[in-house]
Amino acid sequence: MLSTEFYDTSCPEAETIISSAMSQAIKRDPTLAASLLRLHFHDCFVQGCDASVFLDDTRNHVGEKSAAPNFQSLRGFDVIDTIKAELEKACPHTVSCSDILAAVARDSVVLSGGPKWNVEFGRRDSLMANKTAVLEGLPNPNSDVAGLLPKFEQVGMSLRDMVALSGGHTIGSAKCVFLKGQRPNSSCSRNESHGSLDQTPKLFDNNYYLNLLEKNGNGPEGFLESDNALVRSTLALELVQIYATNATAFFADLRTSMIKMGRVAPLLGSKGESGGPKWNVEFGRRDSLMANKTAVLEGLPNPNSDIAEKNKNGGFLESDNSLVKSTLALELVQVYAKNATAFFSDFTTSMIKMALLGSEGEVRINCHRMN
Ligand code: HEM
Repeated sequence: MLSTEFYDTSCPEAETIISSAMSQAIKRDPTLAASLLRLHFHDCFVQGCDASVFLDDTRNHVGEKSAAPNFQSLRGFDVIDTIKAELEKACPHTVSCSDILAAVARDSVVLSGGPKWNVEFGRRDSLMANKTAVLEGLPNPNSDVAGLLPKFEQVGMSLRDMVALSGGHTIGSAKCVFLKGQRPNSSCSRNESHGSLDQTPKLFDNNYYLNLLEKNGNGPEGFLESDNALVRSTLALELVQIYATNATAFFADLRTSMIKMGRVAPLLGSKGESGGPKWNVEFGRRDSLMANKTAVLEGLPNPNSDIAEKNKNGGFLESDNSLVKSTLALELVQVYAKNATAFFSDFTTSMIKMALLGSEGEVRINCHRMN
């Protein structure tokens, strides 16, 4: 389970190292804040927040970087590399690339004047990336709300999350080919390649939403079609109006939605039809050339079957009831009893681990390559 205390013992200096490197990077080039925030979004919406976005192509594998929304568009990889190198020195092989990116996204917002939240940690880095998953995961800048919303819903996010997170477009720039709004964009009208997403591209404020509201009957003045689409949906428009008039409400919802986005993982899928969690089954096993009867008793735990009836602890088997007789196991039983999401998440992780015998994910030493 993700936790804000995940590195408290294993790498207590992690957040300080990340934040001070980020302050220096943003001081050198303030435009990196927007690019790094976007990197986290592009990581989380494709296969979950697992640093799959960082993987370079190899001879056997084409990663996400060359997919249309990312190609010649994503920036900031060198900032992550610098931070990763520092963390490897301080706490070798401990802090995952995906966790670094989650903290960097938060710092990007804070250093641009936006809200602060406590970042949850504990992600592991993927062992694969998939170019085609990028288009399946990411929303299209020419979509309307009916096209955008399913991309958020498929990772467990709501319309409210979508409108709040779109406020990320209060910082940064985009290629002029994407410009659809009515507001004249000085750089684009000077035939430059990129224009600012709003009038204050280094400041995390609520200008983005003010631009979307009609001022003179000319239509919304967002940059992308997907920005302007928000005011053409009644439900989204209500939120745009709230955020445009109340920056505090925008900041509060952004905080909540960023934490939620940081929790997106393929292994936390909630789309299971039978009511339980769903995960991506990994394939590649081979079938055995032998079987051995005695290995069964050696391998499987003993349920102590003479007590195989409902006893006073309510579980069926002695092995079930024994879980509450160990303090450590009892703690987990209590967490899972109260919180089905935590149970589903850990159950999923452990199922995959069981199939792989301990090789699920990793903490990459270099964010661009699997170890
Ligand atoms: C609603 C769906 C979204 C669509 C269709 C979309 C699309 C785009 C596009 C096309 C660009 C310009 C890319 C380029 O010119 O190369 C862009 C830039 C950007 N996006 Fe989004 N985006 C969406 C949601 C988000 C979210 C959820 C975030 C973060 C919370 C975000 C953060 C950014 C930032 C900060 C930039 C500027 C990047 C820079 O200056 O380097 N976007 N987005």
